[in-house]
Amino acid sequence: MTARTLVTGASGQLGTGVIEHLLSSFKMPASALVAGSRDPGKLKDIEARGVETRKADFDDENSLEAAFKGIDRLLIISTDALDGAGTRLRQHKAAVSAAKAAGVTRLFYTSMPNPEDSLITFAPDHLGTEEAIKSSGLDYTIFRNGWYMENLFMALPQALASGQWYSSAGNGKIAHIARDDIARAIAGGLSAPAAENVIHTLTGPVAHTTEEIAALASNATGKPLSVVHLDDAQLAGGMAEAGVPAPFIPTFVSFDANTREGKISMVTGDAATLSGVEPTGLESFLKANSAVLSG
Ligand SMILES: NC(=O)c1ccc[n+]([C@@H]2O[C@H](COP(=O)([O-])OP(=O)(O)OC[C@H]3O[C@@H](n4cnc5c(N)ncnc54)[C@H](OP(=O)(O)O)[C@@H]3O)[C@@H](O)[C@H]2O)c1
Repeated sequence: MTARTLVTGASGQLGTGVIEHLLSSFKMPASALVAGSRDPGKLKDIEARGVETRKADFDDENSLEAAFKGIDRLLIISTDALDGAGTRLRQHKAAVSAAKAAGVTRLFYTSMPNPEDSLITFAPDHLGTEEAIKSSGLDYTIFRNGWYMENLFMALPQALASGQWYSSAGNGKIAHIARDDIARAIAGGLSAPAAENVIHTLTGPVAHTTEEIAALASNATGKPLSVVHLDDAQLAGGMAEAGVPAPFIPTFVSFDANTREGKISMVTGDAATLSGVEPTGLESFLKANSAVLSG
């Protein structure tokens, strides 16, 4: 029987991209693929291409073993439950236990860079999930996904509109990577034979400081942009004044603190190795998205 691969979170942005690359870039037969989502009704387009769809909701622990039945390779896409109450780690642990009970042979998981030494508030979710995967005894491939270039859409349009970008990241660097390059790399990893347990850290080709990103964004849009360097407390205060909901502020500030402390400055070639394609550089990404950035 053909080995089957299930992708959870198949209706999300990354899940959609992984499935597209599995089918189009890596020519995985539709019959070898299963798409899982909390709401399979959102997967009609994928189903129409011959891919089986299943309900896979990590909050519905009892249903997961059936959801993963007959699956050899399982990609667990990390969820977006960032309530600070341990929900996400509980969800991921439920998925790992169900995978083991269902007889999955290799687990794949979307983690974050450097979770064992990170200032990001939600790093323990990823570290705890990696530990659960390792303790399960199943073979594993972990993708430590770098920060999406698309994350810049949250801060840059407003910053470009005002000409000022408030940051406590100092001179710390990040090698952002386009979500689609991550999706392609993960699809490459899911398509390739794997004998060993492995951790890939997926980054863009160059790490930039906030000042450098501001200069590239300014160049892409023709709008002036200067970085206003703050400390963490000043940044948190400014966010509160701007109306950012209080529960989100520590997480947003932790992104800058983590960058400032050099904990996400790594650049690897893992994305290109897995996908066979060089990931997009930030300059071209910002130029291609100048209309979105300009608001
Ligand atoms: N590296 C970065 O910069 C970055 C940025 C944002 C997010 N992330 C992480 O990467 C993940 C994928 O990113 P994305 O861009 O695809 O985000 P997204 O479009 O917001 O997708 C959220 C994902 O969470 C899944 N999910 C939520 N609750 C679930 C549950 N109870 N059981 C199973 N799956 C559940 C959704 O699956 P269904 O709706 O199909 O069930 C969907 O795939 C995010 O969930 C987050 O953990 C990383």
